[in-house]
Amino acid sequence: MERHDVLVVGAGLAGQRAALAAIQAGRDVAILSKLHPLRSHSGAAQGGINAALGAEDSVDTHIYDTVKGSDYLGDQDAIEFFCKEAGPTVVEMEHFGTIFSRGDDGSLARRAFGGAGFPRTIYAADRTGLALLQALYERIGTESFTLYEEWDLTSIVVREGRCQGVIAFNRLSGSFEPIAAKSVVIATGPAGRVYGRTTNAHTCTGDGIAAAYRAGAALKDMEFVQFHPTALLESSILITEGARGEGGILKNGKGERFMSRYAPHVLDLASRDVVSRAIWTEVEEGRGFPGGYVHLELMHLGQEKIETRLEEICDFSRKFAGVDPVTEPIPVMPAQHYIMGGIGTNLRGETNIKGLFAAGEAACVSIHGANRLGGNSLLETLVFGKQAGIAAAEYAKVAPASTLRESEAEPDAARVKAMSNRAEGEEPQRLRMEMQNVMDTQVGIYRAFSALANALRAIRALQARFEKVRIVDPSSTFNLNLTDALETGHMLDLAETIIVGAIARTESRGAHARTDYPKRDDAHWMRHTLATYSHEGPKLSYAPVAYTRWEPKERVY
Ligand code: FUM
Repeated sequence: MERHDVLVVGAGLAGQRAALAAIQAGRDVAILSKLHPLRSHSGAAQGGINAALGAEDSVDTHIYDTVKGSDYLGDQDAIEFFCKEAGPTVVEMEHFGTIFSRGDDGSLARRAFGGAGFPRTIYAADRTGLALLQALYERIGTESFTLYEEWDLTSIVVREGRCQGVIAFNRLSGSFEPIAAKSVVIATGPAGRVYGRTTNAHTCTGDGIAAAYRAGAALKDMEFVQFHPTALLESSILITEGARGEGGILKNGKGERFMSRYAPHVLDLASRDVVSRAIWTEVEEGRGFPGGYVHLELMHLGQEKIETRLEEICDFSRKFAGVDPVTEPIPVMPAQHYIMGGIGTNLRGETNIKGLFAAGEAACVSIHGANRLGGNSLLETLVFGKQAGIAAAEYAKVAPASTLRESEAEPDAARVKAMSNRAEGEEPQRLRMEMQNVMDTQVGIYRAFSALANALRAIRALQARFEKVRIVDPSSTFNLNLTDALETGHMLDLAETIIVGAIARTESRGAHARTDYPKRDDAHWMRHTLATYSHEGPKLSYAPVAYTRWEPKERVY
């Protein structure tokens, strides 16, 4: 059996940064990922990474914007730490070789982003995630570590009060294998594919979050789901907020710049929850274009700016929507983009399970609270990936050896064998699509008790049908039908936690907008939701929000 001091699951920015920190601390480190590291979803982040660099901006303004953006649910101690680390983090990534865009004087170029009091989003055209990912991959490539590439995480083993390692499926050999580790860092990224209309890649199935939940980790604030205002119509490919940061404007079917009604001060650059609700309302009230969408106009920016700073979205618009942003508006609608919740951690990435750590979108520190600001996600992966790596390395230095046994892979192998042996059963793909339809139609931008209760019934019915899921592909190498089944099981668990949390939270805050409880209710709900696994469904409890300097007030843009 393979053994390591620190095993990082996930090879995106958070995972690689955690691994680098643990390697630098002198531990034996491995990374396990279902993808080649450069195919990680971090590479899909377009618009930029926030850091208050330069004399006119300040770390305090970044902190305030993030606290306000979170609708006061973000932990202020964590936000302060996060924003202070932003400058050194971006400079470090530049020294690792990230090719950021530059201003005329050669300094790092910055653009405006939603909910930010200052243009502080540093970028590499509209491929910032990819530029960061390539630089970090080159940097970590100079170190010695083990890479388990194209392996699926199936379980996290917790025994004797601590994490002992993981069970994973090797797609190449078709075997389930235990990997012993003193510390495990979950950095598996998003679970956005619980929705059908999402900017997330098809691989974003929340495997690490689901495995941690089953292993006893508390998931925090899962009900808070972000919808990005501008996803390309039909394909839901991200059209970066950087497009509005560069001066792009939203118009409804009547040609009105409707954001003046919803955010009179900052218009198109209000925070994402505000802009997404505005677009939704325009379309619902009949002011969209036929078929239900609005326009994002860039034409007035001119060809050169559009094609240099927003090259990738030009490509996407031309190829996937048949429109040229230089001469035509882009048809957009909001789509699921990010989940503010995740595996609950502290600033060091520690979870409620000894030896289990988490970072990046899989984790919830919480810095985003009820709504994340654009540009804070790339930053989060690097700041808290590093912290989790440092903490995991420190723990592994003193922790006893893992007692994981070969036989502990058997239950997962037997579970999947039963799925393969069934003569009849449910197709994982069908269950996945039905789940996505439920989430798209009942657990969207606006929510209400009756739709949420219907959604919960529907997801629980799908969970029951999942007990009879069938893998039809008999191959033992690269069996993606099997991977599909594993992922669908994970997502059904997570969909349930989102809905149960959303039903319980009888208020509207940030991205959680209840039509039956339209007001924020600080007296009862200024607290984090914690969901822990039980056979009957998620058990909810609550934890206080950390305050430092900012009193909650009404959020207007
Ligand atoms: O719009 C964007 O470029 C997305 C950025 C983010 O989610 O941080």
